[in-house]
Amino acid sequence: MANAEVGDDVLGDDPTVQRLESMIAEMCGKEAGLFVPSGTMSNAVALKTHTVPGDEIVTERYSHIYLYEGGGYAALCGSSIALPEGVNGLLTPELVQHAIRKQSGSQSHYPDGSLVCVENTANRGGGTCYEQDVLDAIAEVSKAKNCSTHIDGARIFNASVATNTSLTRMTQNYDSVSICLSKGLGAPVGSVLVGSEEFIEQAHRWRKMFGGGMRQSGILAAAGIYALENNIQRMEEDHRRAKTIAQAIDEMDHVSVDADAVQTNMVYFSANDYSASEVSQKMAQAGIDMFDISPTHCRIVTHLHITDQDVQNVIDTLSALG
Ligand SMILES: Cc1ncc(COP(=O)(O)O)c(C=O)c1O
Repeated sequence: MANAEVGDDVLGDDPTVQRLESMIAEMCGKEAGLFVPSGTMSNAVALKTHTVPGDEIVTERYSHIYLYEGGGYAALCGSSIALPEGVNGLLTPELVQHAIRKQSGSQSHYPDGSLVCVENTANRGGGTCYEQDVLDAIAEVSKAKNCSTHIDGARIFNASVATNTSLTRMTQNYDSVSICLSKGLGAPVGSVLVGSEEFIEQAHRWRKMFGGGMRQSGILAAAGIYALENNIQRMEEDHRRAKTIAQAIDEMDHVSVDADAVQTNMVYFSANDYSASEVSQKMAQAGIDMFDISPTHCRIVTHLHITDQDVQNVIDTLSALG
């Protein structure tokens, strides 16, 4: 990062940012990319680019776009939202097809469903991955109803590694993809939004208006490039460690986990005798950080700083809760 060659990305001449954007665009088989400060801004810029006020966005009931982005779809896009509930955060083509409403033919009773978003991996689903044929079929029903398609791929590399599918194949039928550098990839800051040249040109305008243009951001992009070159395949280790924790929990009587939903780097679990906030407090006393994500469930995430020894520590501490 300290040695990064920088320019001024607001003026479009930071070579390190340009390199990062084209690396990710190429990995996804898309024409162009746009570096933004966060996954939330990347999704916000994408939604804004795809929609006009009065449109409706279709996304899963527990998606990040709906739950955790400050209502940006409403405040920034003026869109309404349709929220079919999938299984473990994953939509099906049937759910999407039924959820898309069109102004046309409804005597203008309905908003105009114009964008379908899927999240891969699905965070609140447990870090679950879409099967490729499901992703393709969702894109197909969306296109048939004249909707654009967006992947919130904050953790798409986890999905790619877990399903052994290239990003190009995974995202082939989608118009845009948002990818976080600062999650499993381990870079400190940033996300990249990819799509067609035309889409990214329009997205660039919204990034500007949202205040997301950064000047000597090659310093940050350099960490993203490092992550792409070094930290993708190692995610297998995170997935293995998450599964080890899930298997251990599965064998304990006082805590429960849906082991099938543990497909990547997350473990959602609940404890019989404690609320999730009590569990996370007790774990914090042992130096283990985790979220209580609902009144009943905690979320453990494995990442590049978590070792086998840490995993054993988590298992021992959870075991002692009983
Ligand atoms: C699925 C998903 N999308 C988007 C985001 C937003 O990323 P950021 O925290 O960089 O805004 C997150 C963050 O956890 C996420 O889990």
